[in-house]
Amino acid sequence: MTIVILGGTAEARQLASVLVADGVDVISSLAGRVRRPNLPPGRVRIGGFGGVDGLAEYLRRQPAAALVDATHPFAATISENAIGAASRTGTPLIRLERPGWTDHPRASSWIWVRDAAAARAVADSARRPFLTTGRQSLAEFGSWADRDVLVRLVDPPAKPLPERWTVIMSRGPYSYSDERQILSEYAIDVLLSKDSGGAHTVAKLDAAGDLGVPVVIIARPDHTPVRTVSTVAEVAAWCRAGNNVCGDPRPRI
Ligand SMILES: NC(=O)c1ccc[n+]([C@@H]2O[C@H](COP(=O)([O-])OP(=O)(O)OC[C@H]3O[C@@H](n4cnc5c(N)ncnc54)[C@H](OP(=O)(O)O)[C@@H]3O)[C@@H](O)[C@H]2O)c1
Repeated sequence: MTIVILGGTAEARQLASVLVADGVDVISSLAGRVRRPNLPPGRVRIGGFGGVDGLAEYLRRQPAAALVDATHPFAATISENAIGAASRTGTPLIRLERPGWTDHPRASSWIWVRDAAAARAVADSARRPFLTTGRQSLAEFGSWADRDVLVRLVDPPAKPLPERWTVIMSRGPYSYSDERQILSEYAIDVLLSKDSGGAHTVAKLDAAGDLGVPVVIIARPDHTPVRTVSTVAEVAAWCRAGNNVCGDPRPRI
């Protein structure tokens, strides 16, 4: 049986490892956004499918016994496409989504906003912001060319950034001591983040809290309810069960 994993996350890679070790034929699909992706074991394909139609056609052609949406919580388009394509082709679908940071002990002290534009608006008085909201959000912060922005990215920005901005190129996980050091060294006066969740990038929030640096956090986008679990083990168990638990491809919680 072939299982297609929509990936681009650490959890998707872990899942591929577990399923491949189980002898499952796995195809991990990556969007191709990152220059040097960490490739999972098993088969890998890279690039968009061409919307719901393309993904449905792809699932039919394999044929896929199941589809796992293990994409990042902010990758809303591909997740909706997965629901559409699974429904159209009758492919069992499960979503693997790491829990967000809404239960973090300091979550109530953060300013929660809907999107990057709202994040910029509420943090507009900052002089030394630390932007960790990802490459795709940078265009929203163009008006901050007048201040000393620190940006952290996995890949170089697609367009040149303002002269006063400093770019750190790195990929998590990040330690508490390193995050604390960055916040202090650059005298950061606000931290901007998405509610990505997970342990790999949470240290910046802990360090900001301890240093009294305000946090502006972009809430996760809404999506159509679908069967969702939060651990690799749960998806693996679902796959081992031959998807009997989800023979009905209609989205459900
Ligand atoms: N958004 C984030 O903050 C974030 C952070 C870390 C990692 N990622 C990963 O980066 C990828 C792209 O994220 P995004 O926010 O740009 O996604 P998106 O806005 O939901 O998707 C845009 C388009 O990219 C293609 N695509 C996305 N994920 C794909 C995948 N796993 N395999 C094949 N095609 C994919 C699809 O193209 P077609 O319509 O042509 O099929 C989709 O319509 C995702 O795989 C995600 O897991 C995203």
